[in-house]
Amino acid sequence: MSNSKDFYFPSQEIVDNATVKSYDDFYKKSIEDREGFWAQEAKQLEWYKPWDKLVDESNHPFYKWFVGAKTNIVHNAIDRHLKTANRNKLALIWEGEPGDLKTYSYHALNREVSEFANILKAMGVHKGDIVTIYMPQIPEQIFAMLACAKIGAAHSVVYGGFSHEALAERINDAKSRVVITADGGFRRGKATQLKSIVNKAMELSPTMEVCITVKRTGEEVYMENDRDYWYHDLKALPIASHKCETEQMDAEDMLFLLYTSGSTGKPKGLVHTHGGYSVYTSATHRMVFDIKPEDRWWCAADPGWITGHSYMVYGPLINGSTIFMYEGAPNHPYPDRWWRMIDKYGITVLYTSPTAIRGLMRYGESWVKRHDISSLRLLGSVGEPINPEAWRWYHDTIGNGKCPIMDTWWQTETGGFVITPLPITPLKPGSATKPFFGHEIGVVNEKGEDVAANDVGALVIKKPWPGMARTIMNDDDRYNETYWKKFEDKKYYHAGDSAKKDEDGYYWIIGRSDDVIKVSGYRLGTAEVESAMVSHPAVAESAAIALPHELKGSGIHVYAILREGREPSKELEKELLNHVAQAMGPIAKPEEVIFADSLPKTRSGKIMRRVLKARALGEDEGDLSTLDD
Ligand code: WTA
Repeated sequence: MSNSKDFYFPSQEIVDNATVKSYDDFYKKSIEDREGFWAQEAKQLEWYKPWDKLVDESNHPFYKWFVGAKTNIVHNAIDRHLKTANRNKLALIWEGEPGDLKTYSYHALNREVSEFANILKAMGVHKGDIVTIYMPQIPEQIFAMLACAKIGAAHSVVYGGFSHEALAERINDAKSRVVITADGGFRRGKATQLKSIVNKAMELSPTMEVCITVKRTGEEVYMENDRDYWYHDLKALPIASHKCETEQMDAEDMLFLLYTSGSTGKPKGLVHTHGGYSVYTSATHRMVFDIKPEDRWWCAADPGWITGHSYMVYGPLINGSTIFMYEGAPNHPYPDRWWRMIDKYGITVLYTSPTAIRGLMRYGESWVKRHDISSLRLLGSVGEPINPEAWRWYHDTIGNGKCPIMDTWWQTETGGFVITPLPITPLKPGSATKPFFGHEIGVVNEKGEDVAANDVGALVIKKPWPGMARTIMNDDDRYNETYWKKFEDKKYYHAGDSAKKDEDGYYWIIGRSDDVIKVSGYRLGTAEVESAMVSHPAVAESAAIALPHELKGSGIHVYAILREGREPSKELEKELLNHVAQAMGPIAKPEEVIFADSLPKTRSGKIMRRVLKARALGEDEGDLSTLDD
């Protein structure tokens, strides 16, 4: 099917500058001696105490890495750099949407994080506690995450676009006592509200005692005595010393909890740890983007998602990179905002999502051409399959035909990149190419057997890796059930994506095979959307499906069976769409409501979403033998 004409080959300059010059040799060695490979990567970091055992596989699927080691991710992300020339290097360049600018060296970052850490301690946060963070994209969001980690508390960052109900659900599952927020942030020239949403969430959260609020927009917010504190007030007190010891943690201690959508209603709190995650995020970031000391790295994700955790904050800081962060909308005040900032700050690597690329592509290249973005040397993509048209525009217009695109496939659960090119990899638009080092990947049938080249199957990861999530908070069974049960005898990790591998060994991700929907790269569950729908008094039953959407990748379409006495109407449709957006957050707003009298179900009563989808797309409905008529 494919031949060398399909490939985009890296330039000689890229090859000459590459640290890893031969993927095949390196990959082969990493598979033959997996433990040796990870040990070698781990040795790039500093440990308070080295590990006794690299990996403990005795209790499948609950793997442990760097057993017996003492570390703290903050030691490698900050403390270690203070002893080197990185001390005075910029750690963070931040631009607010209104155009305000802040920069922090590693030295300054350490002071900010230490002050925040001391404030948290004074507020009674202890090692092992889980602090919820609900913030706009401002530097304090990063300081807050690092401050928690520094004192051994875990953070649970909740995306600032989520509703108060979604926030409360996450606070309650984590039993957080303390939440960190801001009055709001700036988006498309307007002040968004966060603190007022937190106030509503706190009413639903019995464990909540303290809320620390950073002043960003200056909008009026309600503050309650003995519960609500302004961050700048606390910072002015003697408790906020800029000296704070970094807590020594076990490698397997929890670093953070991050909620993500699964196929049943309740979001899953995935647990990541200090040791394995430090090694995995830094190794993948360094090798895949061939990080150089002079890089200015921009991961244009929100820290509220895994991409922000791994590749905006932790991986790059461990590698001593200068990170760039931007608060607001890509098209504000004009569609050249991103290109203007790349020019202004000399960004060298841009890592973003296909949705963002498609969104900017629609404005045309004249906005790009106004700026000199030749500082870029590499591009990255994540979150959903990238369509070849967007790939080519990204490559030709943004990368000026000279920047390879690292299309990285991974998940909240994997902690970091799993299938990805390196700068030297010949690329095929739309393929995430090959496995990262140390990984054996499979595309398998129901029995777990590898399928033939170009056949579609389930994507599995065959061996454990240091960055893997350790469990689902409070629910070991669900962790086992969701990811490991399906291919139990082979001990494969079941990713939930369908994929194929071509005759060149390149992987093509097709999409989710379960009830997860990716809207603009954001992960949502059909069950969450459906439960939001039926919480409206007019709706008796609902089914949500994903259909292709030009900009968002997929859009949500919901079917609704109304309760007795309710009639379908345009007004009711609008009301339901807003109701879902209200309950879950604006990103979950469906494209349309389709009023129906019945839904296709199996005899056991499960809604057959695949049938709805096939009908909507005018495709073959497939095997209908289990359909109840
Ligand atoms: C999808 C995001 C195609 C996939 C890091 C996966 C991708 C889900 C890619 C995880 C990619 C992520 N190509 N699909 N390069 N990257 N996905 O947990 O369906 O938000 O299972 O993590 O995103 O979403 P999550």
